[in-house]
Amino acid sequence: MQEIIARTRTFRRFVEKEAINTATLHELIDLARLGGSARNGQPWQYMIVNSPKYCERIFPYLGWAGYLTDWKGPIEGERPSAYILCLLNKNRLKGPESEAQFDLGVASQNLLLGAMEKRIGGCRIGAFNAQLTSLFKLPEHLRLSLVIALGKPRETVIIEECKDEDDVRYWRDEHGVHHVPKRSLKSCLVEMELR
Ligand SMILES: Cc1cc2nc3c(=O)[nH]c(=O)nc-3n(C[C@H](O)[C@H](O)[C@H](O)COP(=O)(O)O)c2cc1C
Repeated sequence: MQEIIARTRTFRRFVEKEAINTATLHELIDLARLGGSARNGQPWQYMIVNSPKYCERIFPYLGWAGYLTDWKGPIEGERPSAYILCLLNKNRLKGPESEAQFDLGVASQNLLLGAMEKRIGGCRIGAFNAQLTSLFKLPEHLRLSLVIALGKPRETVIIEECKDEDDVRYWRDEHGVHHVPKRSLKSCLVEMELR
């Protein structure tokens, strides 16, 4: 478990020509749907996009790696070969929407872990342009909340302990290796005397 969790990183450069078929994407969504959800509401639905034509149309709406200010996102040939659009079905809400966002965190992590096991890398993209929805005839009760980009990874991503707990910015070195600082276990623990 530790090994697969550590390996399940965010990837942003892919072997674009390596397609991901619909059956595989269904398998990943099958993992997403098994996650826990507040009140067991399971309000999320998923739309698959894996044709090169539609992938190309989605790409311009996505925001990549905010900390890498001099990088505009993956170049042609390194773009995702599939997307899963995470849609909140408002008719399935059993409580506040904030609860549903937790559920999506659980579901998307299941999905990405399952993807990594199949050597597929992914990137959750919350920073998409809202106009993206204009590409689809989305019914009123479905709201796009997250895009998951997927593909065969074409970059090395390593996690390392934060050198400075105030600086969590990921960075790329001169060899193109992507470094992700993670806070130390110690800094994630709160120790306090009980009253
Ligand atoms: C809810 C959520 C939204 C995210 N949105 C974006 C995004 O819009 N663009 C992007 O490049 N990465 C996005 N990421 C990826 C994070 O930047 C990434 O998880 C973080 O840098 C840590 O890297 P790691 O996933 O390898 O641990 C998002 C991650 C999460 C969980």
